Amino acid sequence: MERASGVVVYCLEHGQPVFLVLRNAKHGTWGFAKGHVEAGESDSQAALRELREETGIESVFLHPRFEARDRYAFHADGRSIEKSVVYYLGRVRAREARLSKEHSELRWGSASEIASLLQFPNLREVLADAVAFLENSTNARPDWDTALEVLLGNDRESPQLWQRHSIRVSEVAHAIARSLHERGQDVDPDEARLQGLWHDIGRKFGHGPLHGWEGYLHLQRLGLDAHARGCLTHWLKCRPKSEVLATSGLDASLVEQMFREVPLETTTLLDKVLSLADAIVKDDQVVTLDERYADVFARYGESPWLRRNAEIARSQLREIEALLGRPVLDVVRG
Ligand SMILES: [Fe+2]
Repeated sequence: MERASGVVVYCLEHGQPVFLVLRNAKHGTWGFAKGHVEAGESDSQAALRELREETGIESVFLHPRFEARDRYAFHADGRSIEKSVVYYLGRVRAREARLSKEHSELRWGSASEIASLLQFPNLREVLADAVAFLENSTNARPDWDTALEVLLGNDRESPQLWQRHSIRVSEVAHAIARSLHERGQDVDPDEARLQGLWHDIGRKFGHGPLHGWEGYLHLQRLGLDAHARGCLTHWLKCRPKSEVLATSGLDASLVEQMFREVPLETTTLLDKVLSLADAIVKDDQVVTLDERYADVFARYGESPWLRRNAEIARSQLREIEALLGRPVLDVVRG
């Protein structure tokens, strides 16, 4: 039995998956990037190596719970060989791939466009599995262990303060969103929990004023930008573009880029929940807004930007408490 592994690659465009297929230069058939598992390699290592060799794709997020197996037999040198292939599902940022010598053509397309190119029924089944997996939106979101791994990496044993802060913000955002959801509001508690966990991920690269943007770019490189919005919304605190341009001191072209890449002009209830959660967690403790901003001003000085942050946080608190019908701190402290 020969072992091989591969990756069904896709990117999201307007919320819809667009898949990548390659045309084999020798046989003219379409398929996904794949190849032999070499000695000492795990299936997923081999899949990532083959993907890199065949498409140049270096940065891909493999969904940890997806696996599709394909088994078939073929004839070579007068004997029948059985082959088993495991396929992973990998998300990339955008349609970025280059052709290697092994393939004559590559194509991106919707599930139905790609299905019509795949002549092997087994591969059509692999694609159908991937589509079904992605249609279940809880699957499109990484599971909690993976989410923590992204946050903590090598710090799993002894998280740094900003990482403990992130975990607490995540719990607080989750609790507020759950209560709002129970009261009929359109907000997804699990998404709030995830964006809360990653809102400060840019601190991996330093604590400068650009940590929100750096965090966003980091998650984007991992193919996780669907959950990266919180990096920007907690930082810009849901300000409209005109206000960010006028008051942030950020480079105008960067502001334009951020608002072009991410629809920040429309603020969702989840954005406000996350912004508020961050505003009531000092280090890893839940505090009042007054306590939190007293600490912020003591640490960074009372700039107009930070004073405005405090003002926005107060109005978000009022809005969310009106929806909850009770104090946020009661909800959070249970
Ligand atoms: Fe934070």
